[in-house]
Amino acid sequence: MVTTKFVLSLLSLGLLGTTQAYSRGECQYPTQNPLQGCPQGTLLVGPKAEFTSIQSAVLSIPNNTVPYYILILPGNYTEQVNVTRPGPLTLLAQTKFPDDNTKNTVNVIWHNATGTASTGSYDNAYTSTLTVAPTFNSSLTGSGPTGNHVPDGTPFGNTDFRAYNLNFVNDYLPYSAGPSLALSVSYANTGFYYCGFYSYQDTVYIGKLGNVYMYNSTIAGQTDFLYGFGTLWIQSSLLSLRGCGGGITAWKGTNTSFPNAYGAYIHDSSVKAANSSLSIVGKCALGRPWNAAHRSIFANTYLDDSIESSGYIKWSATDPRFGVNTTMAEYKDFGPGWNATGRAAANITIVMTDAQYAPYSTLEKVFQFPFSGKFGNTKWIDRKSQVHGN
Ligand SMILES: *[C@@H]1O[C@H](CO)[C@@H](O)[C@H](O)[C@H]1NC(C)=O
Ligand SMILES: *[C@@H]1O[C@H](CO)[C@@H](O)[C@H](O)[C@H]1NC(C)=O
Ligand SMILES: *[C@@H]1O[C@H](CO)[C@@H](O)[C@H](O)[C@H]1NC(C)=O
Ligand SMILES: *[C@@H]1O[C@H](CO)[C@@H](O)[C@H](O)[C@H]1NC(C)=O
Ligand SMILES: *[C@@H]1O[C@H](CO)[C@@H](O)[C@H](O)[C@H]1NC(C)=O
Ligand SMILES: *[C@@H]1O[C@H](CO)[C@@H](O)[C@H](O)[C@H]1NC(C)=O
Ligand SMILES: *[C@@H]1O[C@H](CO)[C@@H](O)[C@H](O)[C@H]1NC(C)=O
Ligand SMILES: *[C@@H]1O[C@H](CO)[C@@H](O)[C@H](O)[C@H]1NC(C)=O
Ligand SMILES: *[C@@H]1O[C@H](CO)[C@@H](O)[C@H](O)[C@H]1NC(C)=O
Ligand SMILES: *[C@@H]1O[C@H](CO)[C@@H](O)[C@H](O)[C@H]1NC(C)=O
Ligand SMILES: *[C@@H]1O[C@H](CO)[C@@H](O)[C@H](O)[C@H]1NC(C)=O
Repeated sequence: MVTTKFVLSLLSLGLLGTTQAYSRGECQYPTQNPLQGCPQGTLLVGPKAEFTSIQSAVLSIPNNTVPYYILILPGNYTEQVNVTRPGPLTLLAQTKFPDDNTKNTVNVIWHNATGTASTGSYDNAYTSTLTVAPTFNSSLTGSGPTGNHVPDGTPFGNTDFRAYNLNFVNDYLPYSAGPSLALSVSYANTGFYYCGFYSYQDTVYIGKLGNVYMYNSTIAGQTDFLYGFGTLWIQSSLLSLRGCGGGITAWKGTNTSFPNAYGAYIHDSSVKAANSSLSIVGKCALGRPWNAAHRSIFANTYLDDSIESSGYIKWSATDPRFGVNTTMAEYKDFGPGWNATGRAAANITIVMTDAQYAPYSTLEKVFQFPFSGKFGNTKWIDRKSQVHGN
């Protein structure tokens, strides 16, 4: 029986509802006892550890609201990871460089794609390396302007998922060959710090009621590689272009009974060709409207010369999906890919004034609580692990 006293003592230990205080760097640093410095009860994953796959550690965790931690030793883990629990979960990779995603030692790798003659057709949800969603059905992409209908009464999933120094890879083929997701988030709050996301098409999917914050991470893709319905804020990160196709962002807006700020917000970041062998000068679009209520903003971001002079583009010549409620915008971008004349001539990209940008300028103004739509859902964002940024 769970007594009030027991619950109170768990609360005072910080074991209920919120994540524990600990030194992230100490926990992640390789030592003889790898769990040294980690929160009490941290699970260990490694080629010779108690858990040899991340998913087996995840499945061992009870479906409750107690925060759990998993430390992952260096290695390549070929598996799909699915997180359904509502309680906080933190994945940490072992590393001597906890503030540098280019030195990450843990790769979670999956190879799957859909929608071509060679793959066959099934929902994009099946392809993802990491999925954070309360149920499989809530993670389905579906089709049409509003996508899959998530059954009424589906509860919200993880309220505070965090990952540090993990690379999520979907390497089905080394070019766009149908949707192949590295990340899929629906009905959940998730933060990624010093992580990497590598695929070619539809790399990152933020589905319905998905809230995602990424800090100092690398997102690599070619076609529509940030897409979805939810809210994504990318801070101080690198968008690595492995080719061009569609646009970088392909968002669908949703009509709600309350005002919403669902969209993709890229801040203080860089957009660059993955390497100098690619011939993509002036060929990559910042985004295109998956439906006419697309909302995305690139702000204070460096654009290399890969970016098209128009910035954004319409969906296609015959199906533009572009109208008064399409917000495909930039604010104070710079670099060779920023072409003021080109933006004005094409009349597709909104070059925001301070007043137009203001409603989207902080985390509190864009992240909403599920169902009520109340703004300011940001407690799950780890501000301490940020060297710089907002
Ligand atoms: C986990 O618990 C939540 C409520 O706390 C419940 O809605 C959900 O169905 C449970 N999930 C599983 C897989 O049992
Ligand atoms: C993981 O795979 C990459 C590429 O195949 C390889 O370079 C690296 O050494 C592997 N890492 C580990 C820890 O085995
Ligand atoms: C992708 O995963 C689905 C579902 O598990 C499977 O049916 C399909 O064969 C896989 N496709 C490829 C190309 O591996
Ligand atoms: C994870 O979910 C996918 C669908 O998104 C499913 O095909 C796969 O079997 C699940 N894997 C595990 C290990 O639960
Ligand atoms: C998930 O969706 C499929 C197809 O939309 C439906 O047949 C199935 O009953 C749903 N499953 C659950 C558990 O809601
Ligand atoms: C990540 O953080 C480091 C250290 O603060 C910084 O030098 C680097 O510019 C950041 N990366 C990006 C892509 O902003
Ligand atoms: C450049 O990047 C592309 C896309 O990822 C890759 O296919 C190619 O092998 C890379 N070339 C070099 C020389 O690294
Ligand atoms: C939102 O509502 C407008 C006006 O009724 C409609 O034209 C549009 O198709 C709706 N969009 C979606 C995604 O439901
Ligand atoms: C644009 O959005 C407004 C407010 O949601 C809605 O009333 C209007 O019908 C939409 N217009 C179109 C063309 O979808
Ligand atoms: C900028 O855009 C204009 C108008 O589309 C075009 O003529 C010009 O070549 C572009 N400049 C660069 C540097 O791409
Ligand atoms: C397109 O041009 C019209 C007329 O000048 C202007 O009202 C509108 O804001 C422009 N749209 C964009 C996206 O720049």
